[in-house]
Amino acid sequence: MSAAGPASRRLFFALWPDAAERQALHTAFGAVIAAAGGRAVASANLHLTLEFLGAVPDAERASLEAIGAAVVLPQGVVVLDRLDWWPRAATLVVAPAAAADGLLVVQAQLRRTLNDRGFRVDSRPFRPHVTLARKVRAPPPAAPAAAVAWPLHELALVESLTGPQGSRYQPLARWSRVPRPADFEAH
Ligand code: 2AM
Repeated sequence: MSAAGPASRRLFFALWPDAAERQALHTAFGAVIAAAGGRAVASANLHLTLEFLGAVPDAERASLEAIGAAVVLPQGVVVLDRLDWWPRAATLVVAPAAAADGLLVVQAQLRRTLNDRGFRVDSRPFRPHVTLARKVRAPPPAAPAAAVAWPLHELALVESLTGPQGSRYQPLARWSRVPRPADFEAH
């Protein structure tokens, strides 16, 4: 790293929950996370990735911020209600059993715009999820049904930093829409 900082950063766009939404996830799934036996994702790191970009030169950052600023978050909530164990990644995740149209539309628009502007985007289908724990080597015990609703209210451009404690995610820019009661009626 030079004195001027790194020439590139690992970046991704994500839905960025507020403190109450993080807490709700912990309340709903804390017991199964503890029982899963892996390494729980720190509350401050919980997020739902819309598009992972990988290493992006700092010179491209302004274009990404312009793309983020132009995203219009629709009304609606993401209902996180399906716990899943992903054996290959060794992760415990929670996903929407039925992804809200708004989430799929906004992700598809973001992916298209990034692609049109020359950013390398995932060619795999979007699988919305929030990673709850890593290094989960065996299926977790069955857990009682639980659901958490996150309004689509904050998009963030986030940097993934690697430290001694593992990854840490630092939002570099955020774009908010104030959630309204209609968000909760939409699903
Ligand atoms: P994960 O939680 O399922 O591992 C920061 O690493 C975020 O980007 C995480 O949400 C992570 O998903 C996601 N991510 C990391 N590498 C990725 C890749 N190659 N493709 C898609 N998403 C990735």
